[in-house]
Amino acid sequence: MKKLVVLTGAGMSAESGISTFRDSDGLWENHRVEDVATFGGWLRNPELVLKFYNERRRQLAEVQPNKGHRILAELEKNFDVQIITQNVDNLHERASSSQVLHLHGELTKACNLSKTIVEDIGYRDIKTNDTLGETQMRPFIVWFGEAVPEIENAIKIVENADILVIIGTSLKVYPAAGLMSYAPELCPIYCIDPKEVDNLPDYVHVIKKGASQGLEELRKILLK
Ligand code: OAD
Repeated sequence: MKKLVVLTGAGMSAESGISTFRDSDGLWENHRVEDVATFGGWLRNPELVLKFYNERRRQLAEVQPNKGHRILAELEKNFDVQIITQNVDNLHERASSSQVLHLHGELTKACNLSKTIVEDIGYRDIKTNDTLGETQMRPFIVWFGEAVPEIENAIKIVENADILVIIGTSLKVYPAAGLMSYAPELCPIYCIDPKEVDNLPDYVHVIKKGASQGLEELRKILLK
């Protein structure tokens, strides 16, 4: 089976009702990145950081995978589909995709401060007196300025791709944004996004649609 590697970002979950980060109504419009998505922000005001991720986790319990997530899961009948997601939601898994690598962490997990102990917490809130491994429990999220431990695994996956698909990411955040450059020379690359994505090389096949419609179109192309 051909390896279909899919890099997803916030736009993948937009049709499920989860806000993206950098669109006009995005999360970073109403929250300062330095306050809620850095270790410095956590040290200054852990209550605020916990509130931000507790809200995200509660919302995740309320939303459902969309048609785009389901199409990616269905493509496993025809391809060895490996998803690399920047999203911290679990919608790919809930749509039954079987190979999902989370680059930026997972909302339904928590860890200790050194990130050496990781625990499933489901959809429950993390509170200021919750501990793990004798430290305050924190969300299992890769904040800005922190290491991205899964990037080496992601690079290996992209290096072995037969087809690469990029969906719903502004490609503004590294190292994820640089993954495309590891694709083999003859590997076709598709990008699905309703808006123009900056700095895409001209050999990328652009499908200027939302995730669900764009994946319907791509599925027809791939199964032809
Ligand atoms: P962005 O918010 O930067 O980009 C979202 C992309 O999704 C944009 O290109 C939109 O045009 C597109 N989009 C919007 N609606 C869509 C739809 N229905 N279907 C498909 N695409 C759609 O989000 P990311 O690129 O994922 O990191 O952001 C990358 C990282 O920055 C995130 O993982 C997060 C953030 O700060 C951390 O929090 C560590």
